[in-house]
Amino acid sequence: MNTPNSNQPMVYPLFSSPVYTRVLDTFDIPDIASLEFTSRLPGGGTHSFLTSTDKHILEKPEFANIRDLVLREINTYAKGTLCASKRLEFYITNSWVNINRPGDQCPPHTHNNSLISGVLYLKVPNNCGDLYFYRDILSLVPFPPSLDIETDSQNIFNCKHFNVTPKTYQICLFPSVTMHSVGVNMSTEERWCLPFNVYVRGEIGGLHELYLK
Ligand SMILES: [Fe+2]
Repeated sequence: MNTPNSNQPMVYPLFSSPVYTRVLDTFDIPDIASLEFTSRLPGGGTHSFLTSTDKHILEKPEFANIRDLVLREINTYAKGTLCASKRLEFYITNSWVNINRPGDQCPPHTHNNSLISGVLYLKVPNNCGDLYFYRDILSLVPFPPSLDIETDSQNIFNCKHFNVTPKTYQICLFPSVTMHSVGVNMSTEERWCLPFNVYVRGEIGGLHELYLK
């Protein structure tokens, strides 16, 4: 543990939900309008936005440059920020394009069967909907929900939600279990984004076996 040299208080945001964002250099965006979109959910019901029927968008040849950029950022997050072993391979399991029309939004949800999730923003008009993250409703820290202490201001230690105002060419990565939603598109234009999920392959648990020997 690092010990501060000064006599100032030091607070460590321990055991956090690390959210990574970066505005990438501009890149060519393929013809999104040529993709097929639907608002239907596979199990019935409808989304309040349009989503591509192709759930492996980043495997399409015309998205190869974007796939490389996304993988680069995934590795920076997983191996640089989170220090996952360099021997592991993080790979994209699925990816799709969402179009939020004026008035569209996306309710709170998590991504199942995934370790890391992310979204790359392709077209972001002003006021088209922030990305909101939520503290786990059953989180016991910093205070348990059985004692809902009011705060005079919000900060990174006590907030129950945190919003990112996206920009075109920005990428955002986060643990898939982190609840999130998208605010209402209050602009008069469409909001385009490319969400994706990430899993891992490689030898996992080898270090534990080493300790047991
Ligand atoms: Fe999501």
